[in-house]
Amino acid sequence: MQIRLEKERDQRAVHAVNSSAFETRAEADLVDVLREQARPHISLIAEDKGIIIGHIMFSPVSLRGHPKIRALGLAPMAVTPRRQRQGIGTALVQAGLEHCKRGNFAFAVVLGHPRFYPRFGFRPARELGIDSEYDVPPEVFMALELEPGALEEKSGRVRYHAAFNNLS
Ligand SMILES: CC(C)(COP(=O)(O)OP(=O)(O)OC[C@H]1O[C@@H](n2cnc3c(N)ncnc32)[C@H](O)[C@@H]1OP(=O)(O)O)[C@@H](O)C(=O)NCCC(=O)NCCS
Repeated sequence: MQIRLEKERDQRAVHAVNSSAFETRAEADLVDVLREQARPHISLIAEDKGIIIGHIMFSPVSLRGHPKIRALGLAPMAVTPRRQRQGIGTALVQAGLEHCKRGNFAFAVVLGHPRFYPRFGFRPARELGIDSEYDVPPEVFMALELEPGALEEKSGRVRYHAAFNNLS
């Protein structure tokens, strides 16, 4: 199994992986929109024997009041149902965060399972003084400083790319 950057020829398979992992096509379609509209973005795939079995995407988020800070939101992420719980999601997050660090992004956020993401260093975002525009339990919105101290003495509301507003 290898993790690598998505190439143009992978796009259909990436759509299929996302469609299979989520209940509807909404996340798969979101990936297509983010690929076109969100700059810069990071899109990685997990591939085994030439077959794409996982995908992770990061797209820019803004922090209100701090227009210069560069940050990314992790979403969506998907692993083919038959291949879940085998460490592929973990490998995708680890590789993705390495790309984020190399791209000199200050922090990353995720809306996700509160038992999964802390193993990568994510903490409830409110502990770092930031919140999201979504009405979700506070523990599911998490943040990770990619540059130590990036969120010190900063606070505000994080906004995802407008394409996320079409996700029900
Ligand atoms: C979330 C997902 C990408 C994880 O990929 P994976 O390859 O199964 O992950 P790993 O094998 O590395 O790790 C499995 C861990 O994920 C945790 N996990 C992650 N998201 C979870 C969720 N929504 N519900 C329950 N458990 C979840 C499990 O607790 C498990 O932890 P454990 O090993 O300590 O029990 C995959 O399960 C998936 O595609 N789910 C459907 C789509 C989705 O919900 N995506 C995330 C939201 S954007």
